[in-house]
Amino acid sequence: MKEIKKIAILTAGGDCPGLNPVIRAVTKTAITKYGLEVYGVRHGYFGLYHGDFIKLGLEDVEEIITRGGTILYSSNKDNLFQYPVKDENGEFVRDENGKLTYEDVSDVAVKHLDDAGIDALFILGGDGSLTSARDFSRKGVKVIGIPKTIDNDLAHTDYTFGFDTAISVATDGLDRVRTTGMSHHRIMVVEIMGRSAGWMTLHAGIAGAADAILIPEIPYDIEKVAAKIKADKANGKEFSIVAVSEGAKSLDGKQVVLKVIEDSADSIRLGGVGALVADQLEKLTGSEARATTLGHIQRGGTPSAHDRVLSSRYGYAAVELCMRGGFGRMVSLQGDKIIDVSLEDVIGQKTKNVDPNGELVSVAKAMGVCFGD
Ligand code: F6P
Repeated sequence: MKEIKKIAILTAGGDCPGLNPVIRAVTKTAITKYGLEVYGVRHGYFGLYHGDFIKLGLEDVEEIITRGGTILYSSNKDNLFQYPVKDENGEFVRDENGKLTYEDVSDVAVKHLDDAGIDALFILGGDGSLTSARDFSRKGVKVIGIPKTIDNDLAHTDYTFGFDTAISVATDGLDRVRTTGMSHHRIMVVEIMGRSAGWMTLHAGIAGAADAILIPEIPYDIEKVAAKIKADKANGKEFSIVAVSEGAKSLDGKQVVLKVIEDSADSIRLGGVGALVADQLEKLTGSEARATTLGHIQRGGTPSAHDRVLSSRYGYAAVELCMRGGFGRMVSLQGDKIIDVSLEDVIGQKTKNVDPNGELVSVAKAMGVCFGD
């Protein structure tokens, strides 16, 4: 096997706290332990398509462990295996039904990697970005995957970095609306990110002592949530906290879509269910309700100590995996151990979702939390 001398790091998909600590750990381990040359691919897969590489030295990663976001920038639109075609004026080319047309431009990216002499590519991504990682691996690129998403919904890993920071922010949000909600005897609804998985809402909801937690995995009956709030009020509790996942579904199974981003690989952006739930609860209970959407506040800012440690472990383990020749694999946390799993297995699986009958839901229910079921 060809000796590994030059590696590149790419951050793709929605950013999250912990990306920079991973970049730092990979770069430091690669340079100081193995004497490798390290490059960064800027702007995620978009940069890979355009050959946008920069050299990374120890000095570039020295002060980044506390920084949120990614010094390499990211893009969550660019699937190079299904890339929207544009004409010479930069306009999208559409078919007769007005739909975007697509082409596979992954060979262009592979050529850039070959031309730059990159021996292995470290891809930090969630479900969508790691699907492309698997597809590049199938094309013969030596890929190492590192699991990233605040949603914590990636199969085959217990925790992704970014999740701990995001739930701390969400819990702080619940704590803050609690005091104002209490002062005004209101129902305070907080909408929390997480797309199709309720992990963030469930964890923050338990930590922030929510009275109701609404998640995509448990369709809610708004009448039941209202009944719980009215019962609490009858028992003297004058305010309520409702943690609602942006992907929460009412009994009809529908999610509230904020917008559709046509040229994005995953085009649906959720949002608005918090306001809807607040409005419905106000009508059904007669109590005043307010909605707050935490949105990208959960994804920004300084990574927690836990995420910095997890990111450092992942970064170190990823370089070790590379030097062992474990390509097409992803580092993963299982229990308290970092192991590695095949990207084929990770991507073949459904995303990891909350078990409606699992331990965490039982814990919450024992605390009197209503899931609307
Ligand atoms: O997957 C991470 C995530 O932050 C989700 O929780 C959220 O639904 C989505 O990304 C938001 O994406 P964007 O940054 O494109 O609005």
